Amino acid sequence: MKVTIKDIAKKAGVSPSAVSLVLNNRPCRISQQKKDEIKQIAKELNYTANQIARSLVTKQTKTLGLIIPDIENIFFSSLAKHIEIECRKHGYALIILHSDNNDQHDLELLDLLVSRSVEGIFLIPGSEASKYKEALINKLKQIPIPYIMLDRVYPEFSCDKAWFDNEYGAYLAVKHMLEKGHRKIGCIVSTNFYNGQLRLNGYIRALKEYHIPIKQNYIVKGDYKKESGYFAGKKLMQEDLTAIFVTNDMMALGVINSIYEQNKQIPNDYSIVSYDNTIYPYIFGIELTSVKQDVKKLSSSAFELLYKKITGSVGTEKEICLQPELIVRNSVKALNH
Ligand code: RIB
Repeated sequence: MKVTIKDIAKKAGVSPSAVSLVLNNRPCRISQQKKDEIKQIAKELNYTANQIARSLVTKQTKTLGLIIPDIENIFFSSLAKHIEIECRKHGYALIILHSDNNDQHDLELLDLLVSRSVEGIFLIPGSEASKYKEALINKLKQIPIPYIMLDRVYPEFSCDKAWFDNEYGAYLAVKHMLEKGHRKIGCIVSTNFYNGQLRLNGYIRALKEYHIPIKQNYIVKGDYKKESGYFAGKKLMQEDLTAIFVTNDMMALGVINSIYEQNKQIPNDYSIVSYDNTIYPYIFGIELTSVKQDVKKLSSSAFELLYKKITGSVGTEKEICLQPELIVRNSVKALNH
């Protein structure tokens, strides 16, 4: 039988409203001794507050919302895990919703979270290049609760945001292959996402530094999912190249499949650098070099921004741009020129 406020009140010899004020640490004219007695009884009876009922009193649901584009992508599931840990450390539950890389769904999911009276929202937009972008920006402008944008942020939209420097991460990846002697480097990029476009910019920046002309047939489009990586890999293997920069790990899984299907080896036949550093523990026989976007850092930065907004600290919007890191293993073969 669930213990209620009334059970505690009866045992303590006070009114249920007195118990509710004491357990919610609200001001009340009750002696400290009686307050301690009420809290001790609640502990002995294993009382757990009904959060819905409590929120009617405190106007706080102690619940936050997170919208992620693809919960099956290890980057996002890992990010969701660390955001949930941060929330729980501060006494918040987290509702995790999945938009399937579609910012039309973001519109519906924002409404759902507002209807659940969450106290704040972490938003990773499904994509930034779709026709729903303006509608999403307009909704964010009138949403009645604090939110922050993370990972796939809109550069032209002013709000609190936390993300990694995508162009720099890609530049590090391609520079590493150039330093190993590669000059014919392909790129699989998801330009229907703004951070994908920035990663392409990093690829181009590194090649230009080495005065290597940009070949359009070396650049193949993907959608951050494994299947698109598989078909992009097959297409690039028709070209004369020695290395491939893949702009996320899920597509890299597809590329690896397409290379193995041709009975080729990594790095002997094709050198690979990927992005996200999430699949290394799960792929055998390849020491995959990859760009790391530290989800613990991103989670803590995102929580810090949202918590400040929830707790009312005012001030201008804050933007946190984090630095990615190239984790060098052994998927790029050194070429002698
Ligand atoms: O793997 C999914 C990619 O999209 C990641 O690199 C992350 O940045 C997300 O935006």
